[in-house]
Amino acid sequence: MEEAMKTNNQPEAPARKKRIFSAIQPSGQMTLGNYLGAIRNWVEMQDQFDCVYATANLHAITVRQEPKKLKENTTNLFALLIAAGVDPEKSIFFHQSMVPAHAELSWVLSTFTQFGELSRMTQFKDKSARHADNINAGLFTYPSLMAADILLYQADLVPVGDDQRQHLELTRDIAVRFNGIYGKTFVVPEPYIKKNAARVRNLLDPSKKMSKSDPNTKSFILMTDEPATIMKKFRSAVTDSEASVRYAEGKDGINNLMEIYSACTGKTYAQIEDEFRGKGYGDFKTAVGEAVVATLEPIQIRYKELISDRKYLDELAQKGAASAERLAKRTIEKVYKKVGLVR
Ligand code: TRP
Repeated sequence: MEEAMKTNNQPEAPARKKRIFSAIQPSGQMTLGNYLGAIRNWVEMQDQFDCVYATANLHAITVRQEPKKLKENTTNLFALLIAAGVDPEKSIFFHQSMVPAHAELSWVLSTFTQFGELSRMTQFKDKSARHADNINAGLFTYPSLMAADILLYQADLVPVGDDQRQHLELTRDIAVRFNGIYGKTFVVPEPYIKKNAARVRNLLDPSKKMSKSDPNTKSFILMTDEPATIMKKFRSAVTDSEASVRYAEGKDGINNLMEIYSACTGKTYAQIEDEFRGKGYGDFKTAVGEAVVATLEPIQIRYKELISDRKYLDELAQKGAASAERLAKRTIEKVYKKVGLVR
């Protein structure tokens, strides 16, 4: 960043926009929580930043996948994100597996990542407990691949939720370590704190976050759920016995519905409390359901159009990958040269 500014200080030169990198694993359906917590933020960041986005399909195979399903999930996620507003004209958007430099840099960085560091990753500990029959080396070195994703594009900022904070911290350590040995090679990325990310909770148990892997499908809303299904799921959401729409401690169910309603309508909690003063939870739940339908329906319509044209989607991904490749190449060539690898 500093270097770029020094070489770029002619008076008319526009200030370089900060670069963002982010990726989402194609591990099936996306929930309302994914949308309001992350995806919508991807869309908004495009105006302010130079964004590089990918589907993280190489990460996805650290858990055993059915090949046809993985491919389908990858394309569907790509289409859904475009339907939600990720704009391939504004941002670079592609599949991680299309740019070999991710795998190449990942290998190099894994030799700058310590066993002890990887052992401390809480996601590794969780996932190896959940997939005890397949604790593969890729699951362990997953953070080196994630570091490669980020450092390859010299990203200044990475939007992170709590679950990826530790991985970003390790990415920074790897970058600083490499730069310390070989001289300035990588931009050391900063976490980007999402501005209006909603933390959407499980509709039946608001002590947990909304997750599509919950066995009860009524506990989560999928981005592709039919309007009638969405309305029904909100009707069965847990509340409390107070019958008063207000944001307060001990009212986790109502707080969650207020958070969702606020995220979909832009209304503040105070405005929502005014709107539903003297009204029952039934009215409120209907309003929340309708607000969510209004938010998701245009995305669903666009999504259906897009997935019916796989060829167009493939073309967009190819174009995105070509742009990504141009940026990635600069970094990987620099790294190979510094490390002394014959290219
Ligand atoms: N590991 C992230 C997740 O599971 C996905 C991811 C892969 C990512 N590479 C990334 C996120 C780089 C941010 C930056 O959510």
